[in-house]
Amino acid sequence: MTDMQGKTALITGGAGEIGVATARVLAARGARTVVADREGADWSALDAAVPDAVKLHGDVTREADWQGMVADCIEAAGAPTMFFNNAGVEGKVASIHETSAEDFEKVMAVNVRGVFLGLKHVIPIMVGAAGGSIVNASSVAGLEAGAGLAPYTTSKHAVIGLTRTAAAEYAAQGIRVNSVHPGPIDSRMMSSLEGGLGPDFERSQMTAQIPMGRYGRPEEVAELTAFLLSDAASYCNGGRYTADGGMTQS
Ligand SMILES: NC(=O)c1ccc[n+]([C@@H]2O[C@H](COP(=O)([O-])OP(=O)(O)OC[C@H]3O[C@@H](n4cnc5c(N)ncnc54)[C@H](O)[C@@H]3O)[C@@H](O)[C@H]2O)c1
Repeated sequence: MTDMQGKTALITGGAGEIGVATARVLAARGARTVVADREGADWSALDAAVPDAVKLHGDVTREADWQGMVADCIEAAGAPTMFFNNAGVEGKVASIHETSAEDFEKVMAVNVRGVFLGLKHVIPIMVGAAGGSIVNASSVAGLEAGAGLAPYTTSKHAVIGLTRTAAAEYAAQGIRVNSVHPGPIDSRMMSSLEGGLGPDFERSQMTAQIPMGRYGRPEEVAELTAFLLSDAASYCNGGRYTADGGMTQS
């Protein structure tokens, strides 16, 4: 498929597993792919998957970094008309009374402030380009809650508020904004969360809650994201799209 030929895609968290998988899918469809991640990120997976991707460094919580990332993206590859607002952190597994305010704020800074700043700085570029499509990374934790992950769950619910507001505000300028909600994906982030659930945790406890009986793969999130970023999703705006094996539907 070459339906994204000539278009520029910007992906944050682009060194991470879902970011790399999405960069691979978008590049295969012909997009000029620009990936951003924080200083010190390990780019080895991205380099292997998409050797010609443009790589940028920036911290999504810092507004000055956004100004730099957007300017550098435009200079290197043109104005982004596809944007995956994907950088995120999982935080620590703990009950609310055991969660420090600092740990809460760290997760909110990346997952909410970072997504807000991404919208704030990329949307004007898309307005100037007469339109575009944005996907914000939420989670099944944005749709449902369970014990032990208050900062992450709160942050991923907040992503829905940002997505729906942006969808309403910029539809008239040709910009669509949707959120993706992956279930557990076989990835570093899930392994980290499993570690926080304690020595007695077994993956079968989680897969028992998933009708398809397995974790997802990063590329399964990437394919959904690529669809939403593409013109094939031309009437999708403000929506919440799951890739969760049926976890939130059963
Ligand atoms: N892996 C899962 O099971 C899963 C499930 C649901 C939702 N998600 C969401 O999908 C997104 C991607 O997750 P992933 O599995 O690829 O995780 P990951 O940890 O592999 O990748 C996340 C990337 O974000 C980057 N990042 C973190 N803080 C940053 C900051 N301040 N500035 C810039 N970059 C920063 C990290 O360096 C990392 O490369 C996240 O928003 C995550 O919450 C993941």
